[in-house]
This record gives sequence, structure tokens and C-alpha cells, in this order.
Amino acid sequence: MALFKKKNANYISAKETKRISRENRKITDEMEKKRNRKNIPESEYLSQMKNPENVVEFDDVHTYFFTDIGTVKAVDGVSFEVPQGKTVGIVGESGCGKSVTSLSLMQLVQRPQGQTVQGEIRFNTGDKVYNIVNTPTSAMQKLRGNEMAMIFQEPMTALNPVFRIGEQVDEITMLHNPDMPKAQVKARTLEMLKLVGIANCDGVYKMYPHELSGGMRQRVCIAIGLACNPRLIIADEPTTALDVTIQAQILDLMRNLKDKINSSIMLITHDLGVIAEMADYVVIMYAGRVVEKGTAREIFNTPSHPYTIGLMRSKPVVGKKVDKLYSIPGKVPNPINMPDYCYFRDRCELRCEKCQGSYPEVIRLSPTHEVSCYRYQDRPEEGWLVKEHPGEEGKISE
Ligand SMILES: Nc1ncnc2c1ncn2[C@@H]1O[C@H](COP(=O)(O)OP(=O)(O)OP(=O)(O)O)[C@@H](O)[C@H]1O
Ligand SMILES: [Mg+2]
Repeated sequence: MALFKKKNANYISAKETKRISRENRKITDEMEKKRNRKNIPESEYLSQMKNPENVVEFDDVHTYFFTDIGTVKAVDGVSFEVPQGKTVGIVGESGCGKSVTSLSLMQLVQRPQGQTVQGEIRFNTGDKVYNIVNTPTSAMQKLRGNEMAMIFQEPMTALNPVFRIGEQVDEITMLHNPDMPKAQVKARTLEMLKLVGIANCDGVYKMYPHELSGGMRQRVCIAIGLACNPRLIIADEPTTALDVTIQAQILDLMRNLKDKINSSIMLITHDLGVIAEMADYVVIMYAGRVVEKGTAREIFNTPSHPYTIGLMRSKPVVGKKVDKLYSIPGKVPNPINMPDYCYFRDRCELRCEKCQGSYPEVIRLSPTHEVSCYRYQDRPEEGWLVKEHPGEEGKISE
């Protein structure tokens, strides 16, 4: 008879928490000390692109949060590229590390507990290549806004409620062009507001954020983001808070502006419809790692990782009646205690004998299509899943 209750695996005593916290402090203090040095030489943070056609290259990036209950491996070895002038969609379920990946690129991860501990994020400004992981804050401030801009999910929280719209857009232009005369700054703001499709730009210039609708606020955020013609636009769920018609307009707007200023977009979303419409390349993330990546056509027409196949199956299709929408069984593993085998194995309906092994290597299915799954290890050329799971409904046509 079991007299004692089984100890809860997630239970951590106060003493243990204290010890973890002390150890964390030691690690993060050291990292912060290194970061806060004065006059860091350029040689420490300038790098070379693997392919100069890319704007960003994530290379085995690890971003961890050192919390009192353990280390959260939010981003655990992510590698992908954003080519110049292209849109890369990042998909994955809530908590898989999409936002932390983009925040790592902007160096906006909550410090000191959040730290990029390994890997390189190379950012190409045209004349220099920065390894963002080692770039000091002073150099980073010049990159943010000028070279890369972020559009957030919630436009109301991104705007300051106590300042007029005009002042908020002006501020960005002035910050990045300190010598520009005031009248010119205002003219540029009005031009930007017009560009993002705000009809009454003189009126909106004098309004406060609460006087605008959600769609208009998001347009203002886009105007702020694009005020300095950035090379890269990071859009973290830019249309989640908007209704479908406004969503389509905002996506159209982003696509047009991207072509006009010739930049690239990193688009984070869990809406596969948005990805199909916007993205040239797709990166599928699961539990802090990239499980599959490829061109949008490859991902939609021949989804190969069991997780991607599950995602495609759980998408509702107009005109196809089903009793119950498919959902992927199980839940994401605890980010503090990741298993040493494939993170998706316990939920995978296609798992096999080989999946007992350590985390699967990346397997190349085509020059642009890569997947981390044991099922392809010995037979990447067979493409059996292509036949078995053609993803007919979601196919992107030629
Ligand atoms: N400041 C923080 N401190 C501790 N853990 C954090 C912090 N920020 C994020 N995390 C953890 O990092 C992991 C990844 O979070 P992230 O915000 O990147 O998810 P996401 O993919 O953007 O999800 P969503 O689709 O819901 O926005 C989560 O497990 C989250 O709990
Ligand atoms: Mg997020």
C-alpha cells in the first residue's frame, strides 16, 4: 500500500528556488558585465553573411530565460534566413518561441533574465554585417528603427495614449534625423499617414489614439514602423486584433509598402491563411526549435513534418463539411524540462521505432526544403509523405 503520495515532479522547495536564483544571478551578472563594457571594438560584433543576398541569418540561436524555477529554453537552436525583398512567415503554436526569436533579433528580450546564450544572428545593413548577439546597446539603437522595425500585435498598447498621433510619428522621424527642420518633419509624417491609407491625415495628426478605430491605429503603427524605410520589417501577429476585411487591407498595405521601400518582412502568425497569402518562405517552429522550413509552396503542397501535417489538417476548409475539426492530441512539453528525444514524439501519430533516439538531425528534402524527423533519415528521396499527405485542400496552385 502506498502510504506516501508520489512527490509532484513539478514541485520545487523554497530552498531549491533560492539556490537556482543564486546560480542564475551569477550567470546573468557575468553576461551583463560583458555586455555593459565601454568601447567594445567593432571586431567583436561585426561579422560576415553566409549569403550576401540575405538580410538576416539566424544561426543556431539559443535564447534562455533564467527563472527561479529553472531555465526556460524559449529558443533552442533556431536557424533560418530572411532573403532580401522576400517575406518569411514564422508559424507555430502559442509559446513555441516565435516572439522571443524576433525579440532576440531586436535585442528586446527582457534582460537580465532573458539572454541569447549561443549562436549568431547576422544582420546585413548593406555596408556592414552585425552579429546582433554581441552588438552593444549604443550600436543597436542606430539599427532599431533605421534598419529594422517592429509592428506589434496590439496597436493600442504600442501607441502612447497621452500623446497625439502626429507627435508620436514626428518623434520617430526626429530621433533618426535630428537635423531635419520641424516643418519638414510634419510634412513627412502627413505623407506617411497618407501612404498607409489614412484619408483625413490632417485631422488624424491632431487626434489621440483612443479617437481612432483599431484598423486606423494599426495603420499608424505601420506608419511609425516604416518612417525610416527599414530594410527589415518584423510583424508580430499584425492583424490578429483586426476583423477580416481590415485584415486583408492591412496585409495588402504591408505588401505594397514592402515593395515600395524594397524591404523584407518577417511575419509571425498562427494564421495559415495569412501565410499562404503573404509568405515566400515558411518556417515552422515547435517548442523552441525549427521543425520544418521551405518555400510556401513546398510547405503547403508537401508538408513533411508530422506537426506541419497536423497543422494543415486542423485548418478549416470552406465547402468541406466535417463533424469535428482535427486537433493535434497532447500538449507541448514543459519548456523547463525538455526531453532529450524529438520534442514532438509524444504527440506524434506517425512515430516509429527510430524516434526513440536523440533529437533528429536536419534532413534536406530539396535545396530549400528541410525537415527534422526520423522518418526521412534513410529515404529522403522517396518522399512517401508527399504521396500520402498531399494536403489537397490547402494546395497553392502554380
Ligand atoms: N520574460 C519571460 N520570462 C520567462 N519566460 C518567458 C518570458 N517571455 C517568454 N517566455 C517563455 O518563452 C516561451 C516562448 O514565448 P513566446 O512569447 O516566444 O511564444 P510565442 O510563440 O510568441 O507565442 P504566441 O503565439 O502566444 O505569441 C514561452 O514558454 C514563454 O513562457
Ligand atoms: Mg508571440
